[in-house]
Amino acid sequence: MKNPASLLNSKNKFLILGCGFSGSFFAKTIRQFGCTALTSSRSAIKDHNSFIFNSENGKVPNKKIFDGVTHILSCIPPDKNGKDPVLGSLKNKLKSLSLEWVGYLSTTGVYGNTKGDWVSEIDQPNPCQNRSLRRLNCEKEWIESGLPVQIFRLPGIYGPGRSTFEAIRNKKIRVISKKNQVFSRIHVADITNAIIYLLQNKNYLKFHQIINIADDEPCSQIEVIQYCYDLLGLKMPKPILFENAKEELSPIAQSFWMENRRVSNQLLCETLGYKLIYKNYKIGLKNCYLNSKKN
Ligand SMILES: NC(=O)c1ccc[n+]([C@@H]2O[C@H](COP(=O)([O-])OP(=O)(O)OC[C@H]3O[C@@H](n4cnc5c(N)ncnc54)[C@H](OP(=O)(O)O)[C@@H]3O)[C@@H](O)[C@H]2O)c1
Repeated sequence: MKNPASLLNSKNKFLILGCGFSGSFFAKTIRQFGCTALTSSRSAIKDHNSFIFNSENGKVPNKKIFDGVTHILSCIPPDKNGKDPVLGSLKNKLKSLSLEWVGYLSTTGVYGNTKGDWVSEIDQPNPCQNRSLRRLNCEKEWIESGLPVQIFRLPGIYGPGRSTFEAIRNKKIRVISKKNQVFSRIHVADITNAIIYLLQNKNYLKFHQIINIADDEPCSQIEVIQYCYDLLGLKMPKPILFENAKEELSPIAQSFWMENRRVSNQLLCETLGYKLIYKNYKIGLKNCYLNSKKN
């Protein structure tokens, strides 16, 4: 689906709220379309395109920041009470703007444990962790805000600078095996490119408020770790059975192993026609590996 005249251009001004790993990748890419992208962090103004937003201490952006904003992307997780930090501090301000689009990065954790079955946007959320209940609450807040929001549910995010390679290098890797356990993942570049694809083609595509962005091949952690060791030319340590490793894991790490699901990208990739750059962990990790060799 090709769009002759780019819908994204210098007339668009994006605010990226919460410019961490995914937000920075998005900001860098969207600027290549000529768009303005201003980015927030909680504590430091990094350059002339950044500003401070911290819902925890009430630091809200200067009203000039909002002048001419057409698009918002929120990458900020729920607060500890399950409230959305952006809506809690800025809802009225956002509602006063003429926004064309608001994107919200959520998680596939809202689907809960499907015991390895595929899950898609038509399945009812069934969160089983408190953090996923908080997330679902934030999704609801966004939907009820009346803003033109589109929610992207994401599995584990990886990319250059944040992948199994860093865990191996920093000796933080734990090689754990659990029978029949799989995880879904997504390369950070595909989050950005899928969103840009949807924005570029919005006049041709049916609008869906909730969209999963995941790669084609959910698989076990061991396969991913083994692949990284192979690329590095190192021997992978002997895996520890989950049952034996469990006690040593932090509660948050344990909770990730309690959920087993395969996240479907059918809506995004078949119905809406997005072509993944990194269809599986092998292609995505190769990119991370080559990138780390350049730096
Ligand atoms: N990481 C994953 O594997 C994963 C998987 C699925 C979904 N998600 C979700 O997807 C979104 C993006 O993920 P990510 O890994 O790219 O995020 P990230 O790197 O952790 O960045 C989160 C951003 O939110 C900002 N932030 C946090 N609390 C805030 C608050 N109370 N007020 C203002 N700003 C606040 C942080 O500010 P500072 O820059 O000052 O730290 C940071 O810029 C997040 O909501 C995340 O929970 C992540």
